[in-house]
Amino acid sequence: MIRPDFQYQSSQCRLLSRPGALERLAAEVAALGLQRLMFVSGTRSAAGAAGRATRSALAGLIVCEKLGIPQHSGVATVDEIVALARQHGVDGFVAVGGGSASDSAKAAAIVLAEGGQLVDHANVFYPPDRYVQKVLDRPKLPIIAIPTTLSAAEVTPGLGIRDEHGHKLVFWDPHLVPRLIVLDGRATLDVPASLFASTGMNALAHCVEGIYSKVRNPISEGLALQGIRVLQRALLNVTENPDDEDARADALVGAYLSGMVIGNARVGIDHAICHGLGSLGGLPHGVANSIMLAHAMRFNREVSADHLALVAQALGADTRGMSAGAAADAAIAALESLQLRLGVPRRLGEAGLDRALLPRLAEGAMSDRGLYFNPRLATQAEVLALLEAAW
Ligand SMILES: [Fe+2]
Repeated sequence: MIRPDFQYQSSQCRLLSRPGALERLAAEVAALGLQRLMFVSGTRSAAGAAGRATRSALAGLIVCEKLGIPQHSGVATVDEIVALARQHGVDGFVAVGGGSASDSAKAAAIVLAEGGQLVDHANVFYPPDRYVQKVLDRPKLPIIAIPTTLSAAEVTPGLGIRDEHGHKLVFWDPHLVPRLIVLDGRATLDVPASLFASTGMNALAHCVEGIYSKVRNPISEGLALQGIRVLQRALLNVTENPDDEDARADALVGAYLSGMVIGNARVGIDHAICHGLGSLGGLPHGVANSIMLAHAMRFNREVSADHLALVAQALGADTRGMSAGAAADAAIAALESLQLRLGVPRRLGEAGLDRALLPRLAEGAMSDRGLYFNPRLATQAEVLALLEAAW
């Protein structure tokens, strides 16, 4: 039965998915009326095919660049982008790469529009159930996003930036959704298939957490189920044949769907833990999600078995005649089977995490908004137990 009481926020975003789309980027940007762009990218993405094609297509419009964006970005990096944007009077950003590039552009857009320091605009969760979301209603500079991984960061009104203490500051503002997102599978052929696999597990986590989120709705549920189907097929295809540009395009679309899911249904305990694993533990976000998602599903099984049964079906499990609990178990088993076939990391210890950090990670997760949207309340001891299990 469809829940009668919900809200759904759509965004003013043009999505363009086409092999070779970057070659025609100048016409797309002209249609937006932008003339003074800042190019924002990580070192590898800037040097890769997508970065080269973007810089070439927009050669006359890019007035400054911020390269070398680190994983999870950082407050100092955002401050540099803000200073550069003011100095050059930019009228928009073009972000190429993974989530850190687009999140950095979004964060800079917040400071440029709202003033003050970035940290002033971060949202805070006060356990067990109070969430304070800042109102950021001033218009923001437009962003053009060209993703080369499956982080889906560019799709959402949310973003995360690492502070100097290793804590991830999180923000939310529908004005930040890029005005144009270009998916060009061909331009990602130089991105390792293993990076698609791990960041794809993050996209899959967006869909699964959206299905059982406290603020799920009928629209996000449909997007999530389609996202799971598309991602599973595409990730297996990319892993088996890394040169298949159509499979890569499919994977990018799956990631986009996952971003549409969290744009409304948000994320849960898996992401609450993964934020700290990234900002404090130094793990890439995709690797953290590859490891934690099955543990999060197991934690939520007792309150969300019906929803996990939908996940099982989307992953192709035959759940006919099963109880909801058995179908939820089938979802976890199907996910773990997918992990094995993709060859993604499965244990925190093997991923290089310092075990001594586990208590601090559990403590940090308690103030992450993911716990607010998770269907089951979690104590710090329970979060620590999940981390220990994942070790
Ligand atoms: Fe994520």
